[in-house]
Amino acid sequence: MADSNPPTSRPAQGRRFRLRYLAGTLVLLASAIIAFISNNGAEAPSVQEYYSSLESRLGYWLLLGNTRHCGLYEKGQLSPFPVSKAQRAMEEKLYTRLDLKPGSKVMDAGAGSGYVAMYMARKGLNVQAIDITPHHITDARKNVKKNGLEDKISVDYADYHNLTAFPDASFDGIYTMETFVHADDPAKVLGNFYRLLKPGGVIVLHEADFSRNSEVLQDVLRLSHCQNTLKEGGYEELVAGAGFKDYSLDDLTDEVLPLWRLFGVVGYLPYQIFKLLGIQHKFTNVMAGVETWLNWGDGRYISVRAVKP
Ligand SMILES: C[S@@+](CC[C@H](N)C(=O)[O-])C[C@H]1O[C@@H](n2cnc3c(N)ncnc32)[C@H](O)[C@@H]1O
Ligand SMILES: *[C@@H]1O[C@H](CO)[C@@H](O)[C@H](O)[C@H]1NC(C)=O
Repeated sequence: MADSNPPTSRPAQGRRFRLRYLAGTLVLLASAIIAFISNNGAEAPSVQEYYSSLESRLGYWLLLGNTRHCGLYEKGQLSPFPVSKAQRAMEEKLYTRLDLKPGSKVMDAGAGSGYVAMYMARKGLNVQAIDITPHHITDARKNVKKNGLEDKISVDYADYHNLTAFPDASFDGIYTMETFVHADDPAKVLGNFYRLLKPGGVIVLHEADFSRNSEVLQDVLRLSHCQNTLKEGGYEELVAGAGFKDYSLDDLTDEVLPLWRLFGVVGYLPYQIFKLLGIQHKFTNVMAGVETWLNWGDGRYISVRAVKP
């Protein structure tokens, strides 16, 4: 019977074979890309592990040009574009909240690639930038040099849990732009900031503040090493506990939504596919973008300011 197969079926079989071959190759390629880009699968990655995954590197580079903070928009605005303009608006907001004279000395704790520090330097502040992620420090130094701001900004390796390298009362201001969330021991960090500030010196913290009632967000927070995700309102107690006074809070949640909506929309389809495959935990930023957007309201984005008496 096999011999009676019409000869016309040969090309069809060949085509089926080629299609299967092609599909197999595509699946292999996709798996290789996924394996390459995804994080290393650590249950509770360190800060450096989180920022070093190719997914983080690509994501922050492609979507944010390596400025790793939210944009500030008009309330109710839909479009997140242009993103860089909104990021400059956020930096301006932080600068305004610092309320320091030109020539003042500030510490940028967790400076990343140095964009916030460069904004402050252009406004006339002298900036000591610190970070613990080696490739961010390299990038920040390169950016500072490229922009001719070496006389206004120093970039050094330092962990904000250990600031013994800096003398007491040597700063007029210390700020964090979306990094205090990573602190393992927030009280210790604030204690260090307090010691480093002159009397009358200020802290300004632009940070996410979560209310811990979403299971999925707990996964997101652990996977991005956001240990310091306090109960809503916890900041006031923490800051007062470190000795600061004149606490003021600006809730910017509504003004950061457009960018998170973009993350949610861009990540939605890949996230659903990753979930079907059960590998969503290996794509921390996709998960964070989509789940934060879907659970909007489980947290806030706040600007905290306080003064050392
Ligand atoms: C979300 S990024 C923000 C970077 C920068 N502030 C910006 O707005 O572009 C957080 C940064 O904090 C740094 N960081 C995290 N924990 C730190 C610590 N204990 N000491 C110093 N820097 C830290 C990370 O390496 C990362 O560069
Ligand atoms: C704190 O940082 C200094 C360098 O600035 C270092 O010599 C010291 O070992 C660090 N201390 C701890 C406990 O890591």
